[in-house]
Amino acid sequence: MMFPEYRPRRLRRTEALRSMVRETDISLDHLIYPLFACPGKKVKEPIGSMPGIYQMSVDQVVEEARQAFDLGIPAVLLFGIPEKKDERGSHAWLKSGIVQKAVEAIKKAVPDLVVITDVCMCEYTSHGHCGLLKGAKRAKKGKARDVQVDNDATLELLQKVALSHARAGADMVAPSDMMDGRVGAIREILDENNFDHIPIMSYAVKYASSFYGPFRDAAECAPQFGDRRSYQMDIANSREALREATLDMEEGADILMVKPGMPYLDIIHMLRQEFALPIAAYQVSGEYSMIKAAAMNGWMDEAAIVRESLICFRRAGADLIITYFAKDFAKGLGN
Ligand code: PBG
Repeated sequence: MMFPEYRPRRLRRTEALRSMVRETDISLDHLIYPLFACPGKKVKEPIGSMPGIYQMSVDQVVEEARQAFDLGIPAVLLFGIPEKKDERGSHAWLKSGIVQKAVEAIKKAVPDLVVITDVCMCEYTSHGHCGLLKGAKRAKKGKARDVQVDNDATLELLQKVALSHARAGADMVAPSDMMDGRVGAIREILDENNFDHIPIMSYAVKYASSFYGPFRDAAECAPQFGDRRSYQMDIANSREALREATLDMEEGADILMVKPGMPYLDIIHMLRQEFALPIAAYQVSGEYSMIKAAAMNGWMDEAAIVRESLICFRRAGADLIITYFAKDFAKGLGN
């Protein structure tokens, strides 16, 4: 009998050996925790399709942010559910808007927590699309297919939103709308207003994915007609991701994000090979809900699955991970 000389199992014999040769690891330093701010006081409204996640009024968001920070999570990503929606999404850039108020309150209470804001129109528009509409009148007559999201007109609004977030004290802005040219437009307005030190984490590679379903309950932003396929990416494409990421880098993005996360590890890996910028992965609402649902049924070990999923993101090449599990994971790590 011939035995092979090299046996990979030799280095798997004990945990000490395994950890000495481990190639990737996960720590809290890489995690970003999403939060949903809504109007009112002492509101903590559970989101049905995302057990453990809530819409929270500003006072509660501050509490949640403080807890996350105390557990060792370095950053939060803020979304807002406004008091009122309209066709132009005008509450998105109000000085006293929901995200603006939440940023101010968090920065006051927990100054060292990194506060990142999602920049998009869909939570603020009555139609639920991520930008201004062209041809909306025709849509009212039932011809929804004539309606287009007006890319360039939307850029001006996104500039206003990003600037209002920076003025409120945001440490970083994260445009998720997928309009062409938005990173450059936002970089320009921030620089003109002495916010040249504020980084942009761009949702560079964002697919038109069904994994966002539960988020649309959470942020109340499902499109009222049509879908987002005219601005978000085709799930069947990967070279297109390189084109999107290249543009965003050229326009001044500081961090490139891929979204969703786990079904798109190939894209994270590809971006890691091609770009020197930090890469973020978003483990989105649908990924969270699937794991939670299985865990609640006793079908899978939640803590083990969460840990594995986070390590897989790191192995694929993600520096940062946005995850609704951030707090749970932090608690588990402490044990
Ligand atoms: C807003 C936005 C969405 C998500 C983040 N920002 C929804 C969408 O594009 O429909 C999804 C996040 C998640 O599913 O957790 N444009």
